[in-house]
Amino acid sequence: MNEKELYQKAKQALEYSYAPYSRFRVGAALLTTSGEVFTGVNVENSSFGGTICAERTAFVKAISEGFRDFTALAVTSSEGEVYPCGICRQFMFEFGDDLKIITGDDEEHLNVVEITELLPKGFRL
Ligand code: THU
Repeated sequence: MNEKELYQKAKQALEYSYAPYSRFRVGAALLTTSGEVFTGVNVENSSFGGTICAERTAFVKAISEGFRDFTALAVTSSEGEVYPCGICRQFMFEFGDDLKIITGDDEEHLNVVEITELLPKGFRL
């Protein structure tokens, strides 16, 4: 699966976003080192702090199915390019520091950055 295909998976996932409060739909697609793809969407809640981002949804799905090694995560939104929030950056950094983050307004204009560029000197216990 290449970067463009992973981005397309994230875009397809937008359909399932549950964002009745912000109306800002986010879709993510996470690629494991063994080639599986886990998608995720933002799932909002009327108690706003209960909201989970698309990126963490994808990670939680993968980890709860036994996958812990990842190569790339693509993310997009109903408004085009989006970068992971601070909580998601730390959450993803937990599982390795060589993850590529793929984003962009569409599959022809992708931006690829390392998690360590988005979160330099991330926290580790
Ligand atoms: N959101 C994500 O899903 N990922 C991010 O990295 C940033 C924010 C969601 C959370 C909320 O449902 C909506 O975008 C507006 O903050």
